[in-house]
Amino acid sequence: MEQMPKVKHVLTTKEFDRPFLDYLCNLTNRIREMHRTPEGALKLRSLWPHKRLMLYFTQPSSRTFLSFLAAGQNLGMDCAEIRDPRTSSEVKGESFFDAIRTFSSYVDIIAMRTPERNLAEQAAAHLDQTPRPVPIINAGSGPDQHPTQALLDVYTILRSFKEIGGIDGKTIAMVGDLKRGRTVRSLSYLMKNFHDVNLIFVSPEQFKMEDDILDFLRRHHIPYSETDQLKDAVAQADAVYLTRIQDEHDQMVGASAQVDYQPFYFTPAHLALLKPRGIVMHPLPRRQELDPACDSDPRVKIWRQERNGMWVRTALLHMILKNTEEISL
Ligand code: ASP
Ligand code: CP
Repeated sequence: MEQMPKVKHVLTTKEFDRPFLDYLCNLTNRIREMHRTPEGALKLRSLWPHKRLMLYFTQPSSRTFLSFLAAGQNLGMDCAEIRDPRTSSEVKGESFFDAIRTFSSYVDIIAMRTPERNLAEQAAAHLDQTPRPVPIINAGSGPDQHPTQALLDVYTILRSFKEIGGIDGKTIAMVGDLKRGRTVRSLSYLMKNFHDVNLIFVSPEQFKMEDDILDFLRRHHIPYSETDQLKDAVAQADAVYLTRIQDEHDQMVGASAQVDYQPFYFTPAHLALLKPRGIVMHPLPRRQELDPACDSDPRVKIWRQERNGMWVRTALLHMILKNTEEISL
């Protein structure tokens, strides 16, 4: 394999380039292949038994939490967690920065999910000023970024389109609450690494993609269009990426209920319009925006996506540990 690209903190997807993505996806393939045999799985487990992973998740999570836990275990790491902020000494008045520095005293990587945007960046900047600048992985920061989700999404799209040229030249429709959907925001940034990608943003007026992402796409000459017509977008797209209403970010309780989201629900009628080689994705959890009656269609990749998350995160942890071995000597 080619030289491993350097990676330390994982904060947004803006930083990633094509060599990084290619390396990560190749390594992910190798790891999942190795894991197929008991010998390979044990070899993986022997790689990092002297390292510890901390999962600091003060916002709900099933997939990201469990797949990071499984990823750490795949590599033999010990894993520590704080999920309920009431069990952190922050309730005694400790500042977030003292808390994160405390965690860094005991572990080698911190993956963190918080309701606040930008906190992972602040944590990384803070630790970089200390003698133990352990890597921070953003596992979801408010309505802003979810970089490891976007990495597993790219991996899933690349695998799905392996025989038809990968992501280059494809049309990707992102549907739903694009304004506050950190998954689609992170995925949009990654599109700068592919040629001739066309994006269609499908949303109600209230949940249109924010200007910061649209500016980024314009700067990188990535064509996009905006519509509220799901059927038209599905007929044009190679990949349809659905998202749920992110009502946890409502300024007023129940505000999202005012928005008519039904025209953005994907049903078997939409599957009938999808290209034969098209795919449907969703970061999950879902509500009504993807009818479970669609799940048995092989073009619906949601459960693959979920499992791919564990393999991609295993590869990512390995790359970070390789690059930062000296930190905990
Ligand atoms: N699980 C994803 C996230 O945390 C998507 C979602 O919750 O809708 O961003
Ligand atoms: N896709 C995702 O981030 O799922 P969780 O919120 O369950 O972690």
